[in-house]
Amino acid sequence: MSVDPTGTIEGLLVESRRYPPNPEFAASANVNDPEIYQRASDDPEGFWASVAAELDWDQKWDTVLEWDPPKVSWFNGGKLNVSYNCVDRHVKTWRKTKAAIIWEGEAGEERILTYQELYREVNRTALMLKSLGVAKGDRVAVYLPMIPELAIILLACARIGAPHSVVFGGFSPDSLSDRINDCGAKVLVTADGGFRRGAVVALKENADKALEDTPTIEHVVVVQRVGAEKHPVEMKKGRDIWWHDAMAAVSGNYCAPESLDAEHPLYILYTSGTTGKPKGVLHTTGGYLVGAYATSKWVLDLKDDDIYWCTADIGWVTGHSYIVYGPLANGATSVMFEGTPDYPDRDRFWDIIERRAITVLYTAPTAIRACMRWGTEHVEKHDLSSLRLLGTVGEPINPEAWIWYNDHIGHGKCPIVDTWWQTETGAIMISGLPGLTTMKPGSATVPLPGIVPDIVDEQGNSVPDGQGGYLVMRRPWPSMFRTIWGDWDRYVSTYFSKYGPNVYVTGDGAKRDDEGYIWLMGRVDDVLNVAGHRLGTMEIESALVSHPSVAEAAVIGVSDELKGQAVAAFVTPRLGVDANDALVNELRAHVSEKIGPIARPDRIFFTAELPKTRSAKIMRRLLRDVAEGRVMGDTTTLTDPTVLEEIKKQYEDTGAAE
Ligand code: WTA
Repeated sequence: MSVDPTGTIEGLLVESRRYPPNPEFAASANVNDPEIYQRASDDPEGFWASVAAELDWDQKWDTVLEWDPPKVSWFNGGKLNVSYNCVDRHVKTWRKTKAAIIWEGEAGEERILTYQELYREVNRTALMLKSLGVAKGDRVAVYLPMIPELAIILLACARIGAPHSVVFGGFSPDSLSDRINDCGAKVLVTADGGFRRGAVVALKENADKALEDTPTIEHVVVVQRVGAEKHPVEMKKGRDIWWHDAMAAVSGNYCAPESLDAEHPLYILYTSGTTGKPKGVLHTTGGYLVGAYATSKWVLDLKDDDIYWCTADIGWVTGHSYIVYGPLANGATSVMFEGTPDYPDRDRFWDIIERRAITVLYTAPTAIRACMRWGTEHVEKHDLSSLRLLGTVGEPINPEAWIWYNDHIGHGKCPIVDTWWQTETGAIMISGLPGLTTMKPGSATVPLPGIVPDIVDEQGNSVPDGQGGYLVMRRPWPSMFRTIWGDWDRYVSTYFSKYGPNVYVTGDGAKRDDEGYIWLMGRVDDVLNVAGHRLGTMEIESALVSHPSVAEAAVIGVSDELKGQAVAAFVTPRLGVDANDALVNELRAHVSEKIGPIARPDRIFFTAELPKTRSAKIMRRLLRDVAEGRVMGDTTTLTDPTVLEEIKKQYEDTGAAE
């Protein structure tokens, strides 16, 4: 859904349905006094300091914010430990025996870890990491399926101050080795395999391939998830060790949490950008935890009797902030699910909600749209009356999907929070508060307290209400990323140069209506959002061009009913290459192997030439116009406008337009 940010979207303005807060919900909501907004805007630093004071600090900060644009640091001089805040402090209370993590495996297996059990595991895992030579500051790469060890290893890393870098289990060996090399990880934690719709995902084989080219890795810890009977794996002597063996060798149950500077790196998470190389988004200890903690409390309204489920994978930022750090910092019960919504049947989500009496559900529009398409009969089989609050994240939710979610899942009694944020922001930025905000389907509503967005034109002037523009942030917030790992210049040039160092550029287009509600319009750069996952067009193009039959490629996102966006590739084959269906399949498999199945192009279209400007820049915007059957935008800067006409004709003739 890339947009021309200077245009207006009339369609969105006609959405007139309003969902005011339910008084009963509001009465007991964590936030139900609107003065919070005023307090935050009157004194932002005092406001954030009062939020931070709800966490446990070993040493209080000297200054709340130091801002030397674009350099930012929060809670300077303060010391704390994230794992202490997420685990130890609850163990000292009645929550000791409360479920911290309820895990459900794909085949229906269950593991419940109370805060006490989690505490023990995290401590022992931290000792295990130390025994492998991991020290404060060393990076640990994590390539695991959605199993409890994933949450445990994150907290163990946080305990000893070793930044983790989680790589989503669906990424290829190449993607894994790139990330390991970029952050210089010393240890990799992986598994013998994972499960996806009953089949084994060969994580260890992928890791072995990745590790052919990763000089910094000294040890590989392997969790046995699948078992040797089903899926034997090779263990390399001297390098690989089974998780259970390493844990058995640990003596002691306590590893003192490192008292870390608020600005100590907590994790690096790679995300796609507008150039080929993914960016290592760096989050730090104090500010990040404040953001994840506060937003879980305000937006997800987590309370002690909630059974809260975020359906994301911990391989993405949503899982970091809203399965692990945010909920656990609140002492909540967080459900972790290994599988997919349609396995073994299309009612899996609803079945889990009924069986586990889930009260708060946080999921993605793409999942909601899929369930909508499968039909309400799968939903109606289940009693969903335990639900009290629903959330969405990852992409704009179309009003129809919002209404369906409201009617069929929430039965009209659950507020819906549409939460806008990014890997870079660390925590939710724009979202209604369920006890306060009147929701409008399709709008992420209003900024959270302490968050100061604006919508600006090309020159950086605020645009009038109703007009589209670039979404920016005018003030720093605690959970913002601090740099791109190892590349401060790229941090500055990507995010803080368009309008100067004071203004953070999100990369999204947006519009504000006359009541101040924000409507997100999708990315304005070359980043795609496929089923809520960010992919860079350049990354996919590089993968395509690395195939011997390809001379050049341009990748764009085209609207897709289910996934939001689908990947379409315009490919120029090398001379003499037969561009046939077999090549289409080969190229799709090639991208899948290079990046991972999520990046596989949905459509590939061969063309003798690509439309380029006189400075040889591929005009992806015009290809999008072709693919979406729009009136062509400005073509005057093209070297040869007939190229585009030719593509358009062929595109329509081959039926690729469908
Ligand atoms: C998009 C995921 C509209 C947006 C947390 C953003 C959204 C990108 C929403 C970040 C939403 C996320 N409404 N668009 N509620 N939430 N986005 O880094 O384009 O994987 O820039 O973080 O997703 O994706 P990321």
